[in-house]
Amino acid sequence: MFATSDLSQLSKPELYRELAAQISALIRNETDPVANMANCAAVLFHSVPRLNWVGFYLLKGCELVVGPFQGRPACVRIALGRGVVGTAAERRTTIRVADVNQFPGHIACDSASKSEIVVPLVSDDSHLLGVLDVDSPELDRFDGEDEEGLRAIGKIIAAKL
Ligand code: SME
Repeated sequence: MFATSDLSQLSKPELYRELAAQISALIRNETDPVANMANCAAVLFHSVPRLNWVGFYLLKGCELVVGPFQGRPACVRIALGRGVVGTAAERRTTIRVADVNQFPGHIACDSASKSEIVVPLVSDDSHLLGVLDVDSPELDRFDGEDEEGLRAIGKIIAAKL
């Protein structure tokens, strides 16, 4: 049984370090990528405050297809270069959007989403695997500490895809 402890007193860097440790432990002995992404999305969704969607989009051909996630049903296929997801994937760079309505081409899957961060997942041999997408119902929810923490978790999960 996996129990969540009270993480509310931790600083943001401490929280992400703790979650990285939890996710590493959860996926250490499991090779199935869907199982590992599912548990990673669940840990983040239930432990990082003020989120409405956490999940994966995986590169399949020239598009990204939704993978394991927590939150409301999402757009299934996103072309490379489209929306925040497709742009972060195409550029292989993390994109933080303080106000999704100001991002040209933003794809609104859940109207509750106000800000968003998308972290590309890249293999050890530099192939794009997909992205980790995290949405918040608050404007400007994600700062540099969230980016650093989510990028570290992205590396952990990318190594198991
Ligand atoms: N808003 C994203 C689409 C995916 S959902 O947020 C789950 C985008 O613009 O790419």
